[in-house]
Amino acid sequence: MTTITFVAFDGTRHELEAENGSTVMENAIRNSVPGIEAECGGACACATCHVYVDDAWKAAVGEPEAMEEDMLDFAYDVRPNSRLSCQIRVSDKLDGLVVHVPERQA
Ligand code: FES
Repeated sequence: MTTITFVAFDGTRHELEAENGSTVMENAIRNSVPGIEAECGGACACATCHVYVDDAWKAAVGEPEAMEEDMLDFAYDVRPNSRLSCQIRVSDKLDGLVVHVPERQA
């Protein structure tokens, strides 16, 4: 199990236990984390699972692949640490991960 913390736009923190192999988005939806919509269900086709990876975790999470990068163009207020949470797979190396939820989705 890996602990992930979602920090809402207003600073509210949602900490949850995630199963390795699942995606960050799946855990947000399963735990009703506000602000993650995930309309396409994880197909990298909607950009409504957008998060900002905390700076301390950027290297561990890594860079988006080309398809995700294209889809990120449709996200709201994209920043250098933007990722689509359906494309981040949970593993031991992400234990303690912190991601920030944008003010709104696309
Ligand atoms: Fe649609 Fe991530 S859930 S792009």
